[in-house]
Amino acid sequence: MKKIAIIATLILSMAVVFMGCKDKRNPGTVYMPDMAYSRAYESYAARDSSLFTTDPANAGHKIFYNNLSPAGTIKRGELFPFSVPNDSNGLINLSALVKNPLEPLNGKELEEAGRLFNINCAICHGAKGENNGPLAAKIGGVKSIIATSPGYSDGRIFFVTEYGQLNMGSYASQLSREQRWRIVQYIRTLEPKTVPVATTAVKMDSAVVKK
Ligand code: HEC
Repeated sequence: MKKIAIIATLILSMAVVFMGCKDKRNPGTVYMPDMAYSRAYESYAARDSSLFTTDPANAGHKIFYNNLSPAGTIKRGELFPFSVPNDSNGLINLSALVKNPLEPLNGKELEEAGRLFNINCAICHGAKGENNGPLAAKIGGVKSIIATSPGYSDGRIFFVTEYGQLNMGSYASQLSREQRWRIVQYIRTLEPKTVPVATTAVKMDSAVVKK
């Protein structure tokens, strides 16, 4: 009788052990669901809509996750958010009021900014910040950064990296704010050194219309 009990227990435990072995991806009979199906959001995993929701109204019934950090929070070490609105007044007027929050970069930091520029921007704008990167022709042409940047405030250049501009996308998710303010400083080093100066001074009296 004792033997039968031992054999039965053995068979039963073997069955439990092998129960989930049919398919590697299938956890089989699940007795600890939170171990099999993570309640945490798994990056790069397909999101199961029967478990997750992006609608705050549904939170509680399903796991709420919308990929955004909670409102009002800032990543540790990150600069304050760029609060200029994404409209033409923001681009042309308000962005100019935002000063570059960083001190002038030293040689090493500038080198790092250049590295980021070459990775993220040069594919379209070219290493010199113009309009001749390898992708430029494929997306129907890009604008030269340094053709206009000398006349733009730091904030306006940052604005373009924050929101993108027509065929150029936003870089807000690829580069931190600090990295983008650094790139703005790097762009300044690419700008032509000789700023065209008006050579003929306008004589005030010659500008007066003579009757
Ligand atoms: C996919 C190609 C592409 C990449 C990569 C790209 N840009 Fe652009 N960029 C463009 C295009 C296209 C325009 C012109 C948009 C338009 O027609 O107004 C532009 C315009 C700009 C302008 C505005 C020029 C002006 O005269 O208004 C700035 C500044 C700029 N880019 C900076 C950057 C920076 C900095 C990066 C890297 C973080 C970058 N771009 C990466 C395609 C790109």
